[in-house]
Amino acid sequence: MLDWIRRFFGRSDASTSAAPAQPAPAPEASAQSAHPDSEADPFAAFMPFQIRPLQSSDLSRLISVFRDAIQISTANHYDQQQRDAWSQAQSHESLISLLSEGETVVAEWDQELVGFAQRIDDDINMIYVHPDSARVGIATLLYQHLEDGARVEGREGLTAHVSLTAHDFFQFMGFNSEGEEQADRGGVTLTRHLMRKSLASHG
Ligand SMILES: CC(C)(COP(=O)(O)OP(=O)(O)OC[C@H]1O[C@@H](n2cnc3c(N)ncnc32)[C@H](O)[C@@H]1OP(=O)(O)O)[C@@H](O)C(=O)NCCC(=O)NCCS
Repeated sequence: MLDWIRRFFGRSDASTSAAPAQPAPAPEASAQSAHPDSEADPFAAFMPFQIRPLQSSDLSRLISVFRDAIQISTANHYDQQQRDAWSQAQSHESLISLLSEGETVVAEWDQELVGFAQRIDDDINMIYVHPDSARVGIATLLYQHLEDGARVEGREGLTAHVSLTAHDFFQFMGFNSEGEEQADRGGVTLTRHLMRKSLASHG
């Protein structure tokens, strides 16, 4: 865990490195271990985020994160019509239904939900971080938790259908693009990448 803390607070150094990402160990996915008052973990007070399973009380804030991430963070890659179609493609009800599949984890920062991610089998199905909390490593922690779960299940690789905005993030996580594809959202076309990562251990 000390390595993780050092890596997090040293992110400005890491960001200039051309080396591939060295996945940081995921923090404990339990509210107790990451809570600043935890007596069990002497480093807990330094943990800025908490990664934990989705709870039903998260849903209204989660939908705000989903919509704001699309409307604000993807504006350099998708026009307003595309962002509207994407963000409205999931109703409150359909998003709740979708999130009940696979494994969904959320990131809390200062007791506010700032991101979430979902893996269904071999697929990273969703990963969204609120734009106010972008580029501080939240998606990295969310993703690493899901990858760890896939490894525990013995999965050989992961896929993701990745927005143009998220391409560089997934590349940083070790995925390679297998080419562009077109997604339909309510009759509006959005270009995205099909990306894959092998989880096979080498050597
Ligand atoms: C993609 C997304 C989840 C990344 O979240 P994040 O918390 O900002 O990502 P991180 O801080 O963990 O980024 C880790 C690394 O990924 C890369 N990266 C992340 N976002 C990037 C961007 N917009 N442009 C270039 N590189 C990026 C960088 O190498 C970054 O390291 P650095 O900040 O030290 O340079 C977030 O931008 C988002 O929600 N986007 C809109 C929704 C979306 O497209 N989701 C994916 C659907 S498939």
